[in-house]
Amino acid sequence: MKPKSVRDKALEEIFSAKDIDELESLRIKYLGRKGILTLLFKQLREIPQNKRKEIGKSLNDAKDSIISAIENRKTEFIGRRAFEPIDLSLPGRKSFSGSIHPLTRIENELVDTFIGMGFSVAYGYEVETEYYNFDALNTPPDHPSRDIQDTFYLEDGRLLRTHTSPVQIRVMESGGPPFRIISPGRTYRVDAYDASHSPVFHQVEGLYVDKDVRMSDLFGTLDLFAKKFFGEKTITKFVPSYFPFTEPSTEMQVSCPFCRGKGCSVCKYTGWVEILGAGIVHRKILTNMELDGYSGYAFGMGLERIAMLTLGISDIRLFYENEVQFLEEYR
Ligand code: DAH
Repeated sequence: MKPKSVRDKALEEIFSAKDIDELESLRIKYLGRKGILTLLFKQLREIPQNKRKEIGKSLNDAKDSIISAIENRKTEFIGRRAFEPIDLSLPGRKSFSGSIHPLTRIENELVDTFIGMGFSVAYGYEVETEYYNFDALNTPPDHPSRDIQDTFYLEDGRLLRTHTSPVQIRVMESGGPPFRIISPGRTYRVDAYDASHSPVFHQVEGLYVDKDVRMSDLFGTLDLFAKKFFGEKTITKFVPSYFPFTEPSTEMQVSCPFCRGKGCSVCKYTGWVEILGAGIVHRKILTNMELDGYSGYAFGMGLERIAMLTLGISDIRLFYENEVQFLEEYR
Protein backbone atom coordinates (compact mmCIF):
# COMPACT_ATOMS: atom_id res chain seq x y z
CA MET A 1 0.00 0.00 0.00
CA LYS A 2 1.20 3.51 -0.70
CA PRO A 3 2.16 5.72 2.30
CA LYS A 4 -0.49 8.26 1.29
CA SER A 5 -3.38 5.84 1.26
CA VAL A 6 -2.20 4.34 4.58
CA ARG A 7 -2.20 7.88 6.00
CA ASP A 8 -5.69 8.65 4.65
CA LYS A 9 -7.15 5.45 6.05
CA ALA A 10 -5.50 6.04 9.45
CA LEU A 11 -6.73 9.64 9.64
CA GLU A 12 -10.24 8.55 8.78
CA GLU A 13 -10.22 5.96 11.57
CA ILE A 14 -8.70 8.38 14.06
CA PHE A 15 -11.35 10.91 13.21
CA SER A 16 -14.18 8.50 13.94
CA ALA A 17 -12.66 7.04 17.15
CA LYS A 18 -15.12 7.23 20.03
CA ASP A 19 -12.78 7.33 23.01
CA ILE A 20 -9.19 7.37 24.21
CA ASP A 21 -9.00 3.57 24.30
CA GLU A 22 -9.89 3.39 20.65
CA LEU A 23 -7.20 5.98 19.84
CA GLU A 24 -4.63 3.87 21.65
CA SER A 25 -5.59 0.78 19.62
CA LEU A 26 -5.21 2.81 16.41
CA ARG A 27 -1.77 4.03 17.52
CA ILE A 28 -0.70 0.42 17.99
CA LYS A 29 -2.30 -0.63 14.72
CA TYR A 30 -0.27 1.89 12.69
CA LEU A 31 2.78 2.79 14.74
CA GLY A 32 3.28 -0.18 17.07
CA ARG A 33 6.20 -2.62 16.72
CA LYS A 34 4.25 -4.60 14.16
CA GLY A 35 2.21 -1.63 13.01
CA ILE A 36 1.28 -1.09 9.36
CA LEU A 37 3.49 1.99 9.00
CA THR A 38 6.37 0.41 10.94
CA LEU A 39 6.36 -2.52 8.52
CA LEU A 40 6.48 -0.13 5.56
CA PHE A 41 9.53 1.54 7.10
CA LYS A 42 11.18 -1.89 7.34
CA GLN A 43 10.48 -2.57 3.67
CA LEU A 44 12.37 0.63 2.67
CA ARG A 45 15.57 -1.38 2.44
CA GLU A 46 14.20 -3.39 -0.47
CA ILE A 47 13.26 -0.27 -2.40
CA PRO A 48 15.68 0.70 -5.23
CA GLN A 49 18.07 3.47 -4.19
CA ASN A 50 16.66 6.07 -6.57
CA LYS A 51 13.13 5.87 -5.16
CA ARG A 52 14.03 5.26 -1.49
CA LYS A 53 14.46 8.90 -0.53
CA GLU A 54 11.11 9.97 -1.94
CA ILE A 55 9.17 7.10 -0.38
CA GLY A 56 11.02 7.54 2.93
CA LYS A 57 9.94 11.16 3.02
CA SER A 58 6.26 10.41 2.36
CA LEU A 59 6.39 7.68 5.05
CA ASN A 60 7.75 10.22 7.54
CA ASP A 61 5.05 12.69 6.55
CA ALA A 62 2.37 10.03 7.05
CA LYS A 63 3.83 9.19 10.46
CA ASP A 64 3.83 12.85 11.54
CA SER A 65 0.23 13.41 10.41
CA ILE A 66 -0.95 10.27 12.23
CA ILE A 67 0.84 11.23 15.48
CA SER A 68 -0.52 14.75 15.49
CA ALA A 69 -4.07 13.60 14.60
CA ILE A 70 -3.99 11.18 17.56
CA GLU A 71 -2.68 13.92 19.88
CA ASN A 72 -5.37 16.37 18.76
CA ARG A 73 -8.20 13.95 19.30
CA LYS A 74 -6.77 12.94 22.69
CA THR A 75 -6.88 16.55 23.89
CA GLU A 76 -10.42 16.77 22.62
CA PHE A 77 -11.49 13.74 24.66
CA ILE A 78 -9.76 14.89 27.83
CA GLY A 79 -11.31 18.32 27.47
CA ARG A 80 -14.74 16.84 26.88
CA ARG A 81 -14.41 14.64 29.95
CA ALA A 82 -13.56 17.60 32.17
CA PHE A 83 -16.50 19.71 31.06
CA GLU A 84 -19.21 17.21 30.26
CA PRO A 85 -20.86 16.78 33.74
CA ILE A 86 -21.37 20.48 34.30
CA ASP A 87 -24.66 21.85 33.09
CA LEU A 88 -25.55 24.89 35.15
CA SER A 89 -29.08 24.96 33.78
CA LEU A 90 -29.99 21.56 35.32
CA PRO A 91 -32.23 21.75 38.38
CA GLY A 92 -30.61 20.47 41.60
CA ARG A 93 -31.06 16.88 42.64
CA LYS A 94 -33.81 16.42 45.22
CA SER A 95 -32.53 14.69 48.31
CA PHE A 96 -35.14 12.59 50.02
CA SER A 97 -35.09 11.38 53.57
CA GLY A 98 -36.08 7.96 54.84
CA SER A 99 -39.00 7.53 57.19
CA ILE A 100 -40.38 5.19 59.82
CA HIS A 101 -42.16 2.20 58.24
CA PRO A 102 -45.95 2.43 58.80
CA LEU A 103 -45.96 -0.87 60.70
CA THR A 104 -43.19 0.32 63.00
CA ARG A 105 -45.04 3.60 63.52
CA ILE A 106 -48.25 1.83 64.55
CA GLU A 107 -46.23 -0.53 66.77
CA ASN A 108 -44.62 2.45 68.50
CA GLU A 109 -47.99 4.13 69.02
CA LEU A 110 -49.43 0.92 70.40
CA VAL A 111 -46.53 0.36 72.77
CA ASP A 112 -46.66 4.02 73.91
CA THR A 113 -50.37 3.68 74.64
CA PHE A 114 -49.74 0.74 76.96
CA ILE A 115 -46.66 2.33 78.53
CA GLY A 116 -49.00 5.21 79.40
CA MET A 117 -51.14 2.69 81.29
CA GLY A 118 -48.24 1.34 83.36
CA PHE A 119 -46.96 -1.49 81.13
CA SER A 120 -43.30 -2.02 80.28
CA VAL A 121 -41.88 -3.64 77.15
CA ALA A 122 -40.53 -7.20 77.07
CA TYR A 123 -38.99 -9.12 74.17
CA GLY A 124 -38.84 -12.84 73.50
CA TYR A 125 -37.24 -15.05 70.84
CA GLU A 126 -38.36 -15.67 67.29
CA VAL A 127 -36.86 -19.18 67.44
CA GLU A 128 -38.57 -20.97 70.30
CA THR A 129 -38.87 -24.43 71.79
CA GLU A 130 -42.10 -26.40 71.68
CA TYR A 131 -42.17 -26.00 75.45
CA TYR A 132 -42.50 -22.20 75.39
CA ASN A 133 -44.62 -21.99 72.25
CA PHE A 134 -47.07 -24.76 73.23
CA ASP A 135 -46.60 -26.94 76.36
CA ALA A 136 -46.10 -24.18 78.92
CA LEU A 137 -49.13 -22.41 77.41
CA ASN A 138 -51.34 -25.39 78.22
CA THR A 139 -51.41 -26.48 74.58
CA PRO A 140 -51.09 -30.30 74.57
CA PRO A 141 -49.31 -32.24 71.81
CA ASP A 142 -52.57 -33.23 70.11
CA HIS A 143 -53.85 -29.65 69.90
CA PRO A 144 -54.57 -28.58 66.29
CA SER A 145 -52.31 -25.50 66.56
CA ARG A 146 -49.32 -27.86 66.86
CA ASP A 147 -50.10 -29.44 63.53
CA ILE A 148 -46.96 -29.60 61.41
CA GLN A 149 -48.97 -27.84 58.66
CA ASP A 150 -49.23 -24.66 60.72
CA THR A 151 -45.73 -24.37 62.09
CA PHE A 152 -42.23 -23.91 60.71
CA TYR A 153 -40.08 -26.47 62.52
CA LEU A 154 -36.29 -26.41 62.56
CA GLU A 155 -34.33 -29.63 62.15
CA ASP A 156 -33.33 -29.64 65.82
CA GLY A 157 -36.99 -29.63 66.95
CA ARG A 158 -37.17 -25.94 67.72
CA LEU A 159 -39.62 -23.79 65.77
CA LEU A 160 -40.38 -20.29 64.57
CA ARG A 161 -42.83 -18.99 67.14
CA THR A 162 -46.42 -19.03 65.95
CA HIS A 163 -47.47 -16.26 68.34
CA THR A 164 -45.95 -13.86 70.90
CA SER A 165 -47.58 -15.73 73.80
CA PRO A 166 -44.35 -17.59 74.78
CA VAL A 167 -43.11 -14.22 76.05
CA GLN A 168 -45.72 -14.57 78.84
CA ILE A 169 -43.92 -17.66 80.14
CA ARG A 170 -40.44 -16.16 79.76
CA VAL A 171 -41.53 -13.06 81.67
CA MET A 172 -43.13 -15.05 84.50
CA GLU A 173 -39.97 -17.15 84.80
CA SER A 174 -37.72 -14.10 84.90
CA GLY A 175 -38.60 -12.63 88.28
CA GLY A 176 -41.36 -12.05 90.78
CA PRO A 177 -44.85 -10.55 90.38
CA PRO A 178 -46.43 -8.17 89.63
CA PHE A 179 -45.89 -8.49 85.86
CA ARG A 180 -47.32 -5.89 83.53
CA ILE A 181 -45.76 -6.16 80.09
CA ILE A 182 -46.45 -5.54 76.45
CA SER A 183 -44.41 -7.48 73.86
CA PRO A 184 -44.35 -6.67 70.16
CA GLY A 185 -42.59 -8.96 67.72
CA ARG A 186 -42.41 -11.06 64.60
CA THR A 187 -44.34 -14.34 64.34
CA TYR A 188 -44.54 -17.12 61.73
CA ARG A 189 -47.07 -19.57 60.37
CA VAL A 190 -47.29 -21.78 57.30
CA ASP A 191 -49.80 -19.58 55.53
CA ALA A 192 -50.61 -18.36 52.05
CA TYR A 193 -49.26 -15.00 50.92
CA ASP A 194 -52.35 -13.10 49.83
CA ALA A 195 -54.31 -9.92 50.58
CA SER A 196 -55.02 -10.97 54.17
CA HIS A 197 -52.31 -13.54 55.02
CA SER A 198 -48.56 -13.62 55.29
CA PRO A 199 -46.32 -16.42 56.61
CA VAL A 200 -44.38 -13.74 58.49
CA PHE A 201 -46.41 -11.25 60.48
CA HIS A 202 -46.37 -9.38 63.78
CA GLN A 203 -48.22 -9.63 67.05
CA VAL A 204 -48.38 -7.65 70.25
CA GLU A 205 -48.81 -9.59 73.46
CA GLY A 206 -49.98 -8.21 76.80
CA LEU A 207 -49.79 -9.74 80.27
CA TYR A 208 -50.80 -8.44 83.67
CA VAL A 209 -50.38 -10.65 86.75
CA ASP A 210 -50.91 -9.34 90.29
CA LYS A 211 -53.14 -9.86 93.32
CA ASP A 212 -56.84 -9.68 92.41
CA VAL A 213 -56.58 -8.97 88.69
CA ARG A 214 -60.07 -9.40 87.22
CA MET A 215 -61.86 -9.60 83.90
CA SER A 216 -63.17 -6.06 84.53
CA ASP A 217 -59.55 -4.78 84.59
CA LEU A 218 -59.05 -6.39 81.20
CA PHE A 219 -62.24 -4.83 79.81
CA GLY A 220 -61.33 -1.37 81.12
CA THR A 221 -57.77 -1.41 79.79
CA LEU A 222 -58.69 -2.75 76.35
CA ASP A 223 -61.66 -0.40 76.01
CA LEU A 224 -59.35 2.55 76.68
CA PHE A 225 -56.89 1.23 74.11
CA ALA A 226 -59.65 0.81 71.50
CA LYS A 227 -60.94 4.37 72.02
CA LYS A 228 -57.43 5.79 71.81
CA PHE A 229 -56.73 3.90 68.58
CA PHE A 230 -60.02 3.89 66.70
CA GLY A 231 -61.60 7.06 68.08
CA GLU A 232 -63.44 8.20 71.22
CA LYS A 233 -66.80 7.02 69.91
CA THR A 234 -65.65 3.42 69.45
CA ILE A 235 -67.79 0.82 71.20
CA THR A 236 -66.18 -2.42 72.37
CA LYS A 237 -67.85 -5.80 72.66
CA PHE A 238 -66.38 -8.87 74.36
CA VAL A 239 -67.63 -12.19 73.04
CA PRO A 240 -66.87 -15.64 74.49
CA SER A 241 -64.01 -17.51 72.85
CA TYR A 242 -61.53 -20.29 73.46
CA PHE A 243 -57.75 -20.27 73.94
CA PRO A 244 -55.89 -23.06 75.75
CA PHE A 245 -53.97 -20.58 77.91
CA THR A 246 -56.88 -18.48 79.18
CA GLU A 247 -60.06 -19.38 81.09
CA PRO A 248 -62.43 -17.75 80.53
CA SER A 249 -61.42 -16.54 77.07
CA THR A 250 -62.82 -13.70 75.04
CA GLU A 251 -62.46 -11.86 71.76
CA MET A 252 -62.73 -8.12 71.62
CA GLN A 253 -64.67 -6.62 68.77
CA VAL A 254 -64.91 -2.90 68.05
CA SER A 255 -67.61 -0.98 66.24
CA CYS A 256 -66.34 -0.77 62.65
CA PRO A 257 -63.95 2.21 62.42
CA PHE A 258 -64.97 2.74 58.78
CA CYS A 259 -68.76 2.75 58.79
CA ARG A 260 -69.21 3.44 62.52
CA GLY A 261 -71.28 0.29 62.83
CA LYS A 262 -73.62 0.81 59.87
CA GLY A 263 -72.18 -2.06 57.85
CA CYS A 264 -69.58 -2.04 55.08
CA SER A 265 -67.22 -4.41 53.27
CA VAL A 266 -64.52 -4.12 55.96
CA CYS A 267 -66.85 -5.41 58.71
CA LYS A 268 -68.63 -7.70 56.23
CA TYR A 269 -71.84 -5.80 56.94
CA THR A 270 -71.92 -6.85 60.61
CA GLY A 271 -70.91 -3.44 62.02
CA TRP A 272 -68.17 -5.09 64.13
CA VAL A 273 -64.55 -6.06 63.57
CA GLU A 274 -62.59 -8.52 65.66
CA ILE A 275 -59.43 -7.01 67.10
CA LEU A 276 -57.83 -9.42 69.54
CA GLY A 277 -57.97 -12.50 71.72
CA ALA A 278 -57.76 -12.26 75.49
CA GLY A 279 -58.74 -13.84 78.76
CA ILE A 280 -57.89 -14.65 82.35
CA VAL A 281 -54.56 -16.48 82.57
CA HIS A 282 -55.30 -20.21 82.99
CA ARG A 283 -54.97 -21.43 86.58
CA LYS A 284 -52.76 -24.35 85.44
CA ILE A 285 -50.20 -21.89 84.01
CA LEU A 286 -50.08 -19.80 87.16
CA THR A 287 -49.61 -22.94 89.29
CA ASN A 288 -46.77 -24.11 87.00
CA MET A 289 -45.13 -20.71 87.42
CA GLU A 290 -45.57 -20.97 91.21
CA LEU A 291 -47.95 -18.04 91.19
CA ASP A 292 -50.80 -19.48 93.27
CA GLY A 293 -52.47 -16.63 95.08
CA TYR A 294 -52.12 -14.38 92.03
CA SER A 295 -54.37 -13.83 89.07
CA GLY A 296 -53.89 -12.19 85.71
CA TYR A 297 -55.14 -11.39 82.26
CA ALA A 298 -53.47 -11.71 78.88
CA PHE A 299 -54.23 -10.53 75.38
CA GLY A 300 -52.72 -10.84 71.94
CA MET A 301 -53.36 -9.00 68.70
CA GLY A 302 -52.12 -8.93 65.13
CA LEU A 303 -50.20 -5.74 64.46
CA GLU A 304 -50.94 -5.77 60.72
CA ARG A 305 -54.65 -6.00 61.39
CA ILE A 306 -54.56 -2.97 63.71
CA ALA A 307 -52.40 -1.07 61.22
CA MET A 308 -54.68 -1.94 58.28
CA LEU A 309 -57.73 -0.74 60.21
CA THR A 310 -56.15 2.50 61.40
CA LEU A 311 -54.52 3.37 58.08
CA GLY A 312 -57.34 2.10 55.87
CA ILE A 313 -55.29 -0.47 53.95
CA SER A 314 -56.93 -3.57 52.49
CA ASP A 315 -53.91 -5.59 51.32
CA ILE A 316 -51.40 -6.85 53.91
CA ARG A 317 -48.71 -7.32 51.24
CA LEU A 318 -48.30 -3.56 50.92
CA PHE A 319 -46.44 -3.62 54.24
CA TYR A 320 -43.70 -5.90 52.95
CA GLU A 321 -43.07 -4.90 49.36
CA ASN A 322 -41.11 -1.69 49.93
CA GLU A 323 -43.03 0.36 47.38
CA VAL A 324 -41.67 3.85 47.94
CA GLN A 325 -44.99 5.40 46.90
CA PHE A 326 -46.84 3.47 49.61
CA LEU A 327 -44.19 4.18 52.24
CA GLU A 328 -44.33 7.90 51.46
CA GLU A 329 -48.10 8.00 51.64
CA TYR A 330 -48.22 6.45 55.10
CA ARG A 331 -45.05 7.90 56.61
N1 DAH B 1 -51.81 -16.20 70.87
C1 DAH B 1 -53.15 -16.04 70.33
C2 DAH B 1 -53.09 -16.20 68.84
O1 DAH B 1 -52.06 -16.13 68.26
C3 DAH B 1 -53.71 -14.69 70.67
C4 DAH B 1 -54.02 -14.59 72.13
C5 DAH B 1 -55.26 -14.94 72.59
C6 DAH B 1 -53.07 -14.14 73.03
C7 DAH B 1 -55.57 -14.86 73.94
C8 DAH B 1 -53.37 -14.05 74.39
C9 DAH B 1 -54.64 -14.41 74.81
O2 DAH B 1 -52.49 -13.63 75.29
O3 DAH B 1 -54.93 -14.30 76.14
O4 DAH B 1 -54.11 -16.41 68.22
